[in-house]
Amino acid sequence: MHTHDTAAQGSNLLTDNPELYEARFPDTERLAGRWAEDCLRRYAAGPRVLDLGCGTGRDAAYLHAAGRSVVGADLSDAMLTYARSHHPGPRYTRVDLRGFQFPRRSFDAVVCLDSALLYCHTNAELDGLLASCRRALAPGGLLVAEMRNGAFFLGRTELLDAPAVSGFSRQGVTYESTTTLSVDRAAQLLRRTRVWTADDGSPPVEQRSAWRLLFPQELRYVLAAHGFDVLDLHDGPGPRTEPPWKEGAMPGPTADADRLHLVARLTRHT
Ligand SMILES: C[S@@+](CC[C@H](N)C(=O)[O-])C[C@H]1O[C@@H](n2cnc3c(N)ncnc32)[C@H](O)[C@@H]1O
Repeated sequence: MHTHDTAAQGSNLLTDNPELYEARFPDTERLAGRWAEDCLRRYAAGPRVLDLGCGTGRDAAYLHAAGRSVVGADLSDAMLTYARSHHPGPRYTRVDLRGFQFPRRSFDAVVCLDSALLYCHTNAELDGLLASCRRALAPGGLLVAEMRNGAFFLGRTELLDAPAVSGFSRQGVTYESTTTLSVDRAAQLLRRTRVWTADDGSPPVEQRSAWRLLFPQELRYVLAAHGFDVLDLHDGPGPRTEPPWKEGAMPGPTADADRLHLVARLTRHT
């Protein structure tokens, strides 16, 4: 059993209230879905796609509208219920991305966006995800992922120095979050404490989550061990970089900034 404090296990204001998640992180231009579709096309992926950690389903629905046959998978029942009603098209199912089973070779690609892969905190969990992907993917299948870059935190403290305050409003209620990030070096985890307040009289809520700090070379190593060839591994442009990715933009040569973008192909099938 997993016993750690991932976002999926404790309560999480945004994951438990998907409409707030979309209000807080609007992606009105569907950049994440478009970027993922661009990667799939550039490497000629087949039509069957698994969106791991699909959240509200907006990326899964974009890929569905682009003509793919999509399964959206998430651990949060609230997210899955929201996805089924607000972003119909894909089939949505409850899955723990740290170890899951679909019929063998039932997908041509797995996409894993917005740091969902980093909910694998331990090496065993990362092995669990990659072994599950290998079973679920057809030979030559792709893994497309977008996440924080652990290497960004080497020698940089700008995200760690002071709490970040941010806010948004929805249906007349203003929400404000104060976020403190810290690095657990031995565990290679980025830990986040976030306190939410709202001006509707509800008491403040404190939430903790954590993401694995994975380094580019470490990712190459573990992917190779699971039979994947790395096709792209770079820090942008991507859907959450500044400036953001635009149609036609090609991957840059570096893997230094705070987001990491991965395309890998399964070449050694068991
Ligand atoms: C940051 S959101 C990403 C949502 C979506 N992919 C996007 O880019 O908008 C992370 C999602 O991962 C899900 N999640 C967290 N831990 C998970 C796990 N162990 N297995 C499956 N999903 C998980 C959460 O429920 C949440 O919906």
